[in-house]
Amino acid sequence: MSIIKNLETEIKEIIKQAGYELEKYTLENSNRRDLGEFQINDAMQLASKYHENPREIAAKIVSELEKDDRFTNINIAGPGFINISLSNEYMAKLLNEMEENIFSNIDKKERKKILIDYGGANVAKALHVGHLRSANIGEALKRLANLLGYEALGDAHLGDYGRPLGLVIKEIQTRYPSLEYFDPTYQGNYEELSLPITNEDLEKIYPLASNKSKEDEEYLEDAREITAKIQRHERGYYDLWKKVVSISKEDIKKTYDDLNVQFEIWNGESDEMEYYDALNQKIEEAGILIDSEGAKIIEVSEDSDTSPMPPLLYTKSNGSVSYETTDLATILEREINVDPDEVWYVVDGRQSLHFEQVFRAAKKAKLIKENKVLEHVGFGTMNGRDGKPFKTRDGGVMPLKSLIELVNEETLKRINSDTVPAEEKATVAKTVAIAALKYADFLPFRATDYIFEVEKFSDLEGKTGPYLLYSTIRMKSLLAKAEGIKAEKITKLKGNTEKDIALTLLNLPNVLDKSLETRSLNEIAEYLYKLTSYYNKFYAENKIITEEEEELRNSWIVLTKLVYKVNNLLLDVLGIKVPNKM
Ligand code: ARG
Repeated sequence: MSIIKNLETEIKEIIKQAGYELEKYTLENSNRRDLGEFQINDAMQLASKYHENPREIAAKIVSELEKDDRFTNINIAGPGFINISLSNEYMAKLLNEMEENIFSNIDKKERKKILIDYGGANVAKALHVGHLRSANIGEALKRLANLLGYEALGDAHLGDYGRPLGLVIKEIQTRYPSLEYFDPTYQGNYEELSLPITNEDLEKIYPLASNKSKEDEEYLEDAREITAKIQRHERGYYDLWKKVVSISKEDIKKTYDDLNVQFEIWNGESDEMEYYDALNQKIEEAGILIDSEGAKIIEVSEDSDTSPMPPLLYTKSNGSVSYETTDLATILEREINVDPDEVWYVVDGRQSLHFEQVFRAAKKAKLIKENKVLEHVGFGTMNGRDGKPFKTRDGGVMPLKSLIELVNEETLKRINSDTVPAEEKATVAKTVAIAALKYADFLPFRATDYIFEVEKFSDLEGKTGPYLLYSTIRMKSLLAKAEGIKAEKITKLKGNTEKDIALTLLNLPNVLDKSLETRSLNEIAEYLYKLTSYYNKFYAENKIITEEEEELRNSWIVLTKLVYKVNNLLLDVLGIKVPNKM
């Protein structure tokens, strides 16, 4: 149990000593620091339960609290609000415990296996800003879940199935008709062949082929046929598809790497569709497939629906499968191979209908056990200054790489040439740029749309990633300077700012819990800013290392160590790397 939860249990015990039983008790950080650090607001609730006057109840609780020298400044306000503060000695003791082992103030959850689907990059198409949000939020939720004791796994769920790949290969065939892949008499090993196409080419080929197919019926028909050939694993076409996937995948991996995002599972939709027959069998057994003008659908509406719930399209009238079907096959495959208790889909909120249909169909077809949870963790869009989804200068969808580039230009201007050697500047600027992007992405509640302003979020001042990095690096260099000083424990706390820091530190488990519960990192992002700002205020108010009173100096150094540890821990949860200098 965390330090703070432990304290809650003990206070609950004290209230019991006073003669009152509370079911649940949470320590509330007071917003009236002049009255006390914490509030106990339960006397009113107890009053109705015990039919007594709340102020009298409060008085009895206070007299119990007063026997305990861990608490000071105990008083009653208004109808029966109790204010308490922790004694300096006790506060110091708690902080020391936390400094020795940060996990002493983190609550572990009951073990559960959670699969998080937060990739969704599409092969042969450039990643765009929507994929950025999936990656940021998904990776951070995964890290948070693991920190809190779950077993969380990430699946990249690459979009490598269906027409887009058929189109890409049709265009390759148009350009290079004599490639061995298209020669039915070719007997050699395809794996040894090289392809005269780079990832940049692929990213240009897809939009071009897609446009062509809209104007040229024959071209589209060819692409359809090729798609079918790939799906039948036809020699040559299937091998070229594999090649295209591997070229694209390498580039996708690089981008995810830049974002400090790692997946445990790298399945693609095509791997999942290997379970299509098994899926068909389940669907058949459930008897839920309905013919509808040549297409096959599954009814998913329920009596309690308040808005229309259209049926799920299982196969289209031309026999091809839908996006929904790939997700159903995926659910079955995961149930068989991973057996997760919960699956979280960190995907654009605009796909909520899709997921609702898929989840309902999955339950109807009994693809997963009753007690399993499927959850769409939807997010809002990252918008440009005009309040519309981020666009390039010429109005196209902003590729993720261009966005990173844009932020990078800004952060590069702010790297300090006195401290960062010239040859490291580019790498440091990139790390800072990723931090700027990620932190801005975490600040608003997950489901809210927000405006990303490049200069604002790249700034070293304000609620930004660079501010947090800069401050954390400064803590580190202070600690490096203090290397020779034997500072081991916090034994003295003096000013109000130190108390603010201390109370914020103690509150850590509540913030982590809330973030996990809401599946949103905004709580952690705000907390990091709060803790860092308090620390910076304290840093400005005191000359830490040159403080003459040794006990105070040592306490301050240890406090710095603790803040530094918490910052690193939380930045790591957010998937933000801290450079050595900046
Ligand atoms: N590839 C899809 C896209 O770019 C996202 C896939 C999300 N995950 C899922 N299981 N459907 O829109």
